Amino acid sequence: MKIALTGIKPSGIPHLGNYLGMIRPALALAKSYHCLYFIADYHALTTLHDGAELRRNTAAVAATWLALGLDPLQAILYRQSDVPEVMELAWILSCFTGKGQLDRAHAYKDAVAQGREISAGLYTYPVLMAADILAFGANAVPVGRDQKQHVEMCRDIAIRFNHAYGELLVVPEPLIQEEVETIPGLDGRKMSKSYGNTLPLFQPASAMRKQVMRIQTDSTPVAEPKVPETAPVYQLYRHIAPAGAEALAERLRAGGTGWAVAKEALADALERELGEARARYEALLRDEAGLAATLRAGAERARDLATPRMAKIRRAVGVR
Ligand code: TRP
Repeated sequence: MKIALTGIKPSGIPHLGNYLGMIRPALALAKSYHCLYFIADYHALTTLHDGAELRRNTAAVAATWLALGLDPLQAILYRQSDVPEVMELAWILSCFTGKGQLDRAHAYKDAVAQGREISAGLYTYPVLMAADILAFGANAVPVGRDQKQHVEMCRDIAIRFNHAYGELLVVPEPLIQEEVETIPGLDGRKMSKSYGNTLPLFQPASAMRKQVMRIQTDSTPVAEPKVPETAPVYQLYRHIAPAGAEALAERLRAGGTGWAVAKEALADALERELGEARARYEALLRDEAGLAATLRAGAERARDLATPRMAKIRRAVGVR
């Protein structure tokens, strides 16, 4: 079976956009691929400089994957920093990465455009990401469109390496998850931590409902017909409860139904979809030792894959 690999950067607590755009589709791949899911804690270090918070976010991301149905005996779930081979490979790959290539990376250019301070870690972020992928021989990398360029850079790096040493690295394909762009946040812009418009995935039901009530709507009076398709509350509803979406759209179009009704429907649908997973999430986080043991076991299996590859790579480049 082919290998699919994807990572989440624990720069915050997972939100609904992460779930719909990335986690849910990535978990669905477990049927057709041998899957590796990891928590990219070294990547988060490019922006998060608070050790306690990074540790907390890492646990939250791990518990989120597991609560949503990742089977850690089938798929491999691990923390990036538990697999030192990745860091070693990142250095080797950096010697096969053009400076011009890094200069052209969208994420880096955006940071420059925003006037942010650029660390060497942020600049070489794509190299570490390439190592994440190439250390395991992944064939497919499910990512949102925003990460496509990074996967293409990974391909270029692998090809350049292979040109020097023979076909040692597997050149991966991006599996683009289009949905990621279309998950709106509270204000209708893409749901993103940097916009402060997210719905935390496993917040208590009452807090979730309160936040859903704050989703932006237009000021069409209750009696008037409404346009559901452009309303973030309806767009979210459609992602969560596709089966009931057309019925809700009809009611909104007919007039006489206020946005508050749609919001109640969304809050109910979220609770139906996520309620049980939230209970599992909370239990997983309470059992700190158990979660740590699960990640350790995952790291061991991940290293079993990376170790023989690294041995070949070291021999090829001549450091062994
Ligand atoms: N850069 C990805 C993001 O921000 C996270 C990530 C790190 C990743 N390494 C990866 C994704 C390797 C896929 C494969 O979303």
